Amino acid sequence: MKDLPTISQFQVFKNRKTILKNPLPFHRANFEKYGDIFRVRVGFRKAVIFTRDATIIKHILQKQHKKYEKSELQTVDLAKYIGHGILTSNGEHWRKHRRMVQPAFHKKKLRGLLGIMKQAVDSELKRIEPGVTQDVFPLMGDLAFQVVAQALFSRYDIQQSMEELQDYTERNQKMLIREMRQPYLKWWFILSGKIKKHLDLAEQGKIKKHLDLAEQGRNILNSIIEERITSGEQKDDLLDMLLNATYEDGKHMPRRQLIDEVLILFTAGHETTANALSFALHLLAKHPDIQNKVLKEVENTDLDSDDIMQCLSELTYTKQCIEEALRLYPPAYVIDRTAISDDIVKGQSFTKGSLVLMSIYELHRSSAFWDAPEEFNPDRFDISLKRDYSNYYYPFGAGPRMCVGNNFAMYEMIITIAQIIKKFQISTDLKAVEVNPLISLKPMSVPVCFELR
Ligand code: HEM
Repeated sequence: MKDLPTISQFQVFKNRKTILKNPLPFHRANFEKYGDIFRVRVGFRKAVIFTRDATIIKHILQKQHKKYEKSELQTVDLAKYIGHGILTSNGEHWRKHRRMVQPAFHKKKLRGLLGIMKQAVDSELKRIEPGVTQDVFPLMGDLAFQVVAQALFSRYDIQQSMEELQDYTERNQKMLIREMRQPYLKWWFILSGKIKKHLDLAEQGKIKKHLDLAEQGRNILNSIIEERITSGEQKDDLLDMLLNATYEDGKHMPRRQLIDEVLILFTAGHETTANALSFALHLLAKHPDIQNKVLKEVENTDLDSDDIMQCLSELTYTKQCIEEALRLYPPAYVIDRTAISDDIVKGQSFTKGSLVLMSIYELHRSSAFWDAPEEFNPDRFDISLKRDYSNYYYPFGAGPRMCVGNNFAMYEMIITIAQIIKKFQISTDLKAVEVNPLISLKPMSVPVCFELR
């Protein structure tokens, strides 16, 4: 650790205003100045390590994943609102629940959910007003929430409950962001155990109120689950799969745990997808030539057919556009891990307790791996080029903690983009979308004009 370039607390303090607005340029400047790994001092004998080194990232996420676990940002701060499901837990608790949740997301199971998914997308897209410029970010937020809701419960008569749940979930996310008003410094607060001290009493009162909201959200889910059980209906949706999943001893998940897993699917599945779809729409609106290539492809595919999976497999260029949007704007722009034992990678020691922030955003824009990295060029993902990006492309993470919903998300995004481009020509006057890096990488706003084709 001695040799690592170190950013002092004073330097961070000096740059605090720009860091608070958007820490990405600060990260970039430090990587350019100090190389692919540096540390930031966060108090007496404490530091956060930032890296964009491909070998180190692969080592931590995949090769030696057992030496690392998720940090308290997720297992404590996020968990207090959404409980201890697979996103927010570590160790044996995580392992046994991942084993139960994962089969629900296998491709075979997802095939059965594609009809529900498409119906939810189509019904949300009816809200687009032709000839009007609108911010697609909130629209994509609603769409992604509805898709998860339908895939879980396959019910259209619980719209009001779902709206309430969406409202609680989003208000709680905003609260979490308020707690992280200083997103960059948040890591200091975690390390120094000072989170509570940095929040005034009024703020702590608000957290209490938001924890009550989380409880109301749980009550909504509990009633829906109860109704499903008493009805005795089998719907083959995500809820059925979670209800039927068993631990190694054959027992089912306790109700509290089931609700935690459902809440996690809403949280992990809706915001990330909404961000990615919004960025992708902006990029397509900015590149009419690329949009036309997507149009040609979607015109030759009929997503209304019975075999949606087959149609999706034909939409290869549309998929490439989404992969390229995820490269430029990875919703999980940093991935956090804490070392649980001492480790050495590339001559760099990571002592037990070290907090490492891996910048996926920087890795995805590194000129060491990508030609013209700042350019939107979906052709780089053309499979006929047979390029292997698996060592430096991680939109869904890697290793055992890799996103459980990655196929679900890809199918949902392909369906959404295909249905939009088939119906509308999209354009924008916005030069570049302004990013808003919070828990995930969000866009500020994404004005897009939709003209009927
Ligand atoms: C574009 C959309 C999405 C992106 C970019 C994304 C990205 C990620 C990433 C990077 C991770 C790993 C985080 C880490 O290693 O610390 C993750 C985990 C997870 N994601 Fe996604 N995700 C997306 C959509 C979804 C969807 C649709 C669902 C479910 C419906 C979902 C459920 C989860 C869950 C449950 C985890 C935790 C897995 C575990 O720790 O075992 N995600 N996601």
